[in-house]
Amino acid sequence: MKLFYLSLFFFFIISFPRSESCSSIDKTTLLKIKKSLNNPQILNSWDPETDCCTDWIGVACTHRRVTGLTISSGDVDGQIAEEIGDLIDLVILDWSSLSRLRGTIPRSITKLKNLVYLRFRITELSGPIPEYISELQNVTFLDLSFNRFNGSIPGSISQMPNLKAIQLNHNKLTGSVPESFGSFVGKVPDLYLGNNHLSGEIPKSLSKSDFNIVSLLGNNFSGDASMFFGHNKTTVRLDLSRNSFHFDLSKVKLAESLVSLDLSHNRVYGELPLGLTKLRLDHFNISFNRLCGSIPQGGLVQNFEVYEFSNNLCLCGAPLQHC
Ligand SMILES: *[C@@H]1O[C@H](CO)[C@@H](O)[C@H](O)[C@H]1NC(C)=O
Ligand SMILES: *[C@@H]1O[C@H](CO)[C@@H](O)[C@H](O)[C@H]1NC(C)=O
Ligand SMILES: *[C@@H]1O[C@H](CO)[C@@H](O)[C@H](O)[C@H]1NC(C)=O
Ligand SMILES: *[C@@H]1O[C@H](CO)[C@@H](O)[C@H](O)[C@H]1NC(C)=O
Ligand SMILES: *[C@@H]1O[C@H](CO)[C@@H](O)[C@H](O)[C@H]1NC(C)=O
Repeated sequence: MKLFYLSLFFFFIISFPRSESCSSIDKTTLLKIKKSLNNPQILNSWDPETDCCTDWIGVACTHRRVTGLTISSGDVDGQIAEEIGDLIDLVILDWSSLSRLRGTIPRSITKLKNLVYLRFRITELSGPIPEYISELQNVTFLDLSFNRFNGSIPGSISQMPNLKAIQLNHNKLTGSVPESFGSFVGKVPDLYLGNNHLSGEIPKSLSKSDFNIVSLLGNNFSGDASMFFGHNKTTVRLDLSRNSFHFDLSKVKLAESLVSLDLSHNRVYGELPLGLTKLRLDHFNISFNRLCGSIPQGGLVQNFEVYEFSNNLCLCGAPLQHC
């Protein structure tokens, strides 16, 4: 009897990993992906003789199918294989810091209907961010930052119902923010568009979206940005620095939820709103604008340094000189 249980025990130990082994379809696909990346050193563990679910670095499986593919920090010299779309159970696709990963995002990616996390970050991917990216309706985090994507931001992104964050910062994107970003089908996502070549006016429609975080720094936007403000918004962080925004700050109502406000290096004019004294600010910078009038006294406003108020038209009062 004892021997029976003992053999049963060994039977499970030995057979369990075997039953969880990688599906041969996925293994073939992964080897094509490896080849398309020019068999880089970081994928040395991807050996056809071993189990791709248990032995291959960056591969995660559920019920023998590949559900996660994380490749990072390496010299790959290649492209995203068309066959990536055959890993139909993928939930997490996370590639980052891959020098010489070139080319575009293949259309086949739209076959990954279960994808929740999509990240291509710090690579040399280029070309447009395709409209068809929005067919990935389960995606929650879209991170395409630090690449060489150009062209305009696809308006179809607003049709992705589960998005929580759009990170397109540090690319070469042109045009403005799509009109459609005033009406997301799902919750309004955090928006990171900094350090691109975006320009022109922000569409008025965006006043309808209550963003938690907006970062547009280091572009060439112009005109009004007051649609990002509003008494009834719940915005926490707003960075509009290093653009050419031109609007009257005395006309905006500050959301009480704001903890970080950076308007530095724009052409913002008017006076500082009194509401500033009610905010629990941890970052504040209005330097290099055309603001004028007395700085509201109270709250945390005087905790900030001269540098955060400097280079305006005629601001006065602490921490600057008396009016
Ligand atoms: C999202 O994923 C679930 C399973 O995780 C799937 O049933 C559903 O069809 C997917 N949604 C879309 C829009 O593809
Ligand atoms: C994007 O870059 C490619 C390659 O440099 C260029 O051929 C193409 O015209 C650019 N597209 C846009 C819209 O700027
Ligand atoms: C920024 O936009 C202005 C027009 O609003 C244009 O004259 C200028 O050349 C642009 N600068 C850059 C660096 O693209
Ligand atoms: C916020 O206020 C504006 C005008 O004051 C109004 O049109 C809008 O519907 C309000 N939004 C919410 C979410 O209450
Ligand atoms: C505010 O902006 C100015 C000008 O860019 C910069 O010198 C200063 O360090 C900034 N302050 C903070 C706290 O970021």
